[in-house]
Amino acid sequence: MSELVWKSEYSIGHFQTDNGHKKLISLANKVIRFSNAGEDISRIHTALKALREYPIIHFRNEENYMKQLGFQEIEHHKACHAELIGRLNEVITENTKVNDLVHGLKRLMVVWVIDHIIHEDLKIAKAK
Ligand SMILES: [Fe+2]
Repeated sequence: MSELVWKSEYSIGHFQTDNGHKKLISLANKVIRFSNAGEDISRIHTALKALREYPIIHFRNEENYMKQLGFQEIEHHKACHAELIGRLNEVITENTKVNDLVHGLKRLMVVWVIDHIIHEDLKIAKAK
């Protein structure tokens, strides 16, 4: 399976937020890479643990940044973050086979995470 690629059009022009998004992509790529290489399930689970923990920190930072800016749509945006966390946890807990899990994870990253960056996080950039 191919890895996710960061693109300059995902940038919201805020160093900490952009770095957070890059880190999310790189954590998901680690899972994809381990799966592609047929790594042991315990290594994949360690990579998944990091991928589950990091968004909580990243979303908190992003929400603080929105507060600083006085961003109008913060409540809607926070609800989107909570939904993303829920979906990520679902993908990880509901798929028992590594292959299904990694496919679900990639789909989530492309359809939800990258879509969220493009459609929601870029609104923060416009509010600056
Ligand atoms: Fe966001």
